[in-house]
Amino acid sequence: MKKIEEKFKLIELEVFSDTRGSLISLEQNKNIPFNIKRVYFIFNTKKDIPRGFHAHKKLEQILICVKGSCKIKIDDGTNIKIFDLLSPNIGLYIGTMVWREMFDFSENSVLLIIASDFYNPEEYIKSYDCFKIGLL
Ligand code: TYD
Repeated sequence: MKKIEEKFKLIELEVFSDTRGSLISLEQNKNIPFNIKRVYFIFNTKKDIPRGFHAHKKLEQILICVKGSCKIKIDDGTNIKIFDLLSPNIGLYIGTMVWREMFDFSENSVLLIIASDFYNPEEYIKSYDCFKIGLL
């Protein structure tokens, strides 16, 4: 897969469906455009309790709502967009230095996150003002 130039982008994932059900496979540097170092998922969320509110200096991620639905607000400093993740075959790629907010989780939703690096709290930008002025 070609390296992604955009700061954020929806990626359609191939679904293998038959009479037994459906399957989606995630492979590094194939349908996931980076080396995968970490996978985590967010569940037991509440519809009216948003999460996120940060950007990452170096981290790239793909967000997939594998069950239910949720919304992701993305801000790259210039453009603000809200993505409705409604289906497990849609991944939202988020590159470096992109502010994100996750909200409107449906009941029992599960948001899967594929990340290009290990967890490192030093790597977060948690102040929107610092993010806006590009302060690392
Ligand atoms: P937090 O960054 O607040 O979640 P969100 O991405 O929704 O804003 O993380 C919640 C807690 O989980 C916090 O104590 C840090 C911890 N955590 C890890 O230990 N490893 C991880 O990979 C992540 C993303 C969070």
